[in-house]
Amino acid sequence: MKRKLKKIALVFFLVFVAIQFYQPKQNISNSFDIGKNFANNYNVPPSVLNSLQIACYDCHSNNTKYLWYDYIQPARIFVETHISDGKKELNFNEFGSYSNRKQQSELEAISKQIKSGDMPLSSYTLLHHDAILNEAQKQEIITWINSINENNSLSEN
Ligand code: HEC
Repeated sequence: MKRKLKKIALVFFLVFVAIQFYQPKQNISNSFDIGKNFANNYNVPPSVLNSLQIACYDCHSNNTKYLWYDYIQPARIFVETHISDGKKELNFNEFGSYSNRKQQSELEAISKQIKSGDMPLSSYTLLHHDAILNEAQKQEIITWINSINENNSLSEN
């Protein structure tokens, strides 16, 4: 029995070692048009931008700040899946390339996700405590988004 357990443990260990060799491409890029950056298209207050960068940019921009354990498989696969799924929905570095209508609906979606606490993902904040927004930070982002949406609807009239 003991020998069998040892064998199983060895197999697990070998699989664990083997999967470490699978390291997908990192989400790190400098070759994008900074003119499309969120902050180049909106007059974002620095504190709002800072909160979004800390809480959202790892999955919603072209540059993720990886931590050492992000490279350990199988975590790495989950990290990269979150990034590619997150970027498909919303990429702050591509924000300026969205249509006006999409930009407006994204802003509303950001506000909604922050209000409900669904974003940042809880699996992420478990290890990234600094990404947890406090009530004041959340309120500041929501108030700012409300203020630009009000301006937009005024200018459409
Ligand atoms: C750990 C990665 C991760 C972080 C950090 C993160 N997101 Fe996401 N986000 C995702 C993924 C994955 C999706 C797509 C799947 C889903 O909706 O769950 C998504 C989807 C979204 C969507 C579209 C949802 C919809 O249904 O319309 C919005 C808006 C969004 N995120 C906003 C944010 C904001 C704002 C922050 C920061 C406060 C944030 N996210 C932080 C991974 C992340």
